[in-house]
Amino acid sequence: MLYLDNCATSKPLESVVQAMVRAMEEDFGNPSSIHSFGFSLEQEIKKIRAFILDYLGGQGQVYFTSGATEANNTVIHSFALDHPQGRIITSPLEHASLMEPIKDLENKGFTVNRVKILPNGQVDYEDLERLVGEGADLVALTHVNSELGSILDLDRVRQALKGKQVHLHIDGVQALGKIPIDLKGVNSYVFSGHKFHGPKGIGGLYLAPGVSLHPLILGGGQEAHFRSGTENVPGIYGLYAAFQNLEDHFDENYAKVKKLKAHLLEGLKSTFPDILFHGDLETTSPYILSLSIPGTRAEVLVHMLEEEEIYISTASACSSHKKEGKNPIHQAIGLSKEESMATLRICLDQSLEEEDLDYFISRLKEKVDDLRMIIGGR
Ligand SMILES: Cc1ncc(COP(=O)(O)O)c(C=O)c1O
Repeated sequence: MLYLDNCATSKPLESVVQAMVRAMEEDFGNPSSIHSFGFSLEQEIKKIRAFILDYLGGQGQVYFTSGATEANNTVIHSFALDHPQGRIITSPLEHASLMEPIKDLENKGFTVNRVKILPNGQVDYEDLERLVGEGADLVALTHVNSELGSILDLDRVRQALKGKQVHLHIDGVQALGKIPIDLKGVNSYVFSGHKFHGPKGIGGLYLAPGVSLHPLILGGGQEAHFRSGTENVPGIYGLYAAFQNLEDHFDENYAKVKKLKAHLLEGLKSTFPDILFHGDLETTSPYILSLSIPGTRAEVLVHMLEEEEIYISTASACSSHKKEGKNPIHQAIGLSKEESMATLRICLDQSLEEEDLDYFISRLKEKVDDLRMIIGGR
């Protein structure tokens, strides 16, 4: 099998699997129990939390959640409670887990402004400054776009918000572990274990010093009353192993994936002279490539490739559940309907080799030729 859909999810590392097995076979206690078995787990989780916080810059707090969807929802829910007339700035590029709770508030009468997106997939920072000048309480944006790979320029965002009392919330799911991060000026940041070779069902919410939010889930008071529910100990252990791997291998992974993407781009360009790449290739994440091959249908290609056990995608796994058909990200960057229908997403990771990508391109070429013949012959 050739897995090129690492933005949807990534394969857990062996160290992650082992850590989770240990949590289930040995450390299966409840961290809230008052006996020493529970207490030792509470201490272990405290140590893991401190490690993750340190990775994120060392200041503030980290809470464990069931993933980024819950963490994004928590921030928006808390914002709504504190700002009944609140004004939100977001973008049309957001993942559904941020876009949907914001839309829900918009339907309830909150003011939501969406910043313009440039054809290269970048936020129009002048438009952001203009919108902030008109008034905002929350700016909610994504660090690395999950479909185009465009990287938010956090310096430009900080500049736009300078001197303003605005909560800056960033969805870091496709950024953490993939690009260097600096959380200066960010009030809240979310991440998800399964996107960087950790387990599914575990993620976190980072809050900067002085930021306090309302919980979304009430109950037994775990996570300092911020997120009730018995801790997902296997998930937390697995997440820790994934973070440890980042601590040890981030630079080498980044360099390898950057080279792989350059190799992929070169191979695709020479195989498909009319190919279109979306987003600014100089500045997008090395882990993500969005492209369209004219005269094809991406969804059909995905299924043709799956017959060879090659897995890629058309769009974000969450947006692909939608029925409306129109992809808001493609619309935002001005793709035509034809271009949008032909858009494929390839997401790399460090376990791949150049030969894997050569093999992928050769199979893709066969499928594209077959498909063009079918479509042309209709
Ligand atoms: C940018 C972004 N945010 C949030 C999520 C949701 O993460 P989770 O699966 O942890 O709920 C995803 C998952 O695809 C994502 O890509």
